Amino acid sequence: MEKIVILTGAGISAESGLGTFRGAGGLWEQYPLEDVATPEGFARDPVLVHEFYNARRAQVAAARPNPAHRALARLEDARAGEVLIVTQNIDALHEAAGSRNVLHMHGELSRALCRACGARWDAPEQMSAQDVCPGCGAALTRPDVVWFGEMPYGMDRIEAALAGAEIFAAIGTSGQVWPAAGFARLAHEMGAHTVELNLEPSAASADFHEHRQGRASEVVPEWVAELLG
Ligand code: OAD
Repeated sequence: MEKIVILTGAGISAESGLGTFRGAGGLWEQYPLEDVATPEGFARDPVLVHEFYNARRAQVAAARPNPAHRALARLEDARAGEVLIVTQNIDALHEAAGSRNVLHMHGELSRALCRACGARWDAPEQMSAQDVCPGCGAALTRPDVVWFGEMPYGMDRIEAALAGAEIFAAIGTSGQVWPAAGFARLAHEMGAHTVELNLEPSAASADFHEHRQGRASEVVPEWVAELLG
């Protein structure tokens, strides 16, 4: 079981040019989340939802990992088998930086899901409401991302890892979305040392022993260098 569990959010990809969700200029200010990130929004207007995720997919394809992603990959290289990254991000920048043990609790932009049979496959660059499932042929395909009101992926695995963690770190997440917002409290209660690395205190700040405030591209490499001595 991993000793170091790291939760990441939109803030770690901000310096790779991907927008965060909350705050001034955030994605949810431009697109109401009820419209593009709920099963009800998809049922109302699948064309709009596909357009939203197609635009995200194009943005992510052009983005490159930044020093924060790369520092976490170095940590995993140095501590083989001891590091688990649990990301709320649907981009693939951790993998692009070289991280291997990554759990995408909110799904992945690069994957598609059939609502009829549950099959998953690599998403085309542009998904559309007319696409059919390569498994069952139904025209009921959607991005394989977790929407509000749906159960995040891998919760049993995440909870087991939090229970066994010696260090829990949260990077670039506002602590406003559950269940991820509760991971620090859980890890803290189970005996982990908890560290928050964020531009500003998050809504979950009180659950952390240690706070490192600043841009992920600066504070994450510093933290990793300290861990690696
Ligand atoms: P948010 O947009 O809520 O929060 C991003 C956090 O990153 C904020 O606390 C910022 O202060 C911080 N931040 C911004 N730039 C940073 C930088 N350069 N370095 C360090 N920190 C920085 O994003 P998340 O917490 O990831 O879910 O949001 C969680 C979930 O809410 C997302 O996965 C998504 C969203 O709605 C779904 O769509 C289901």
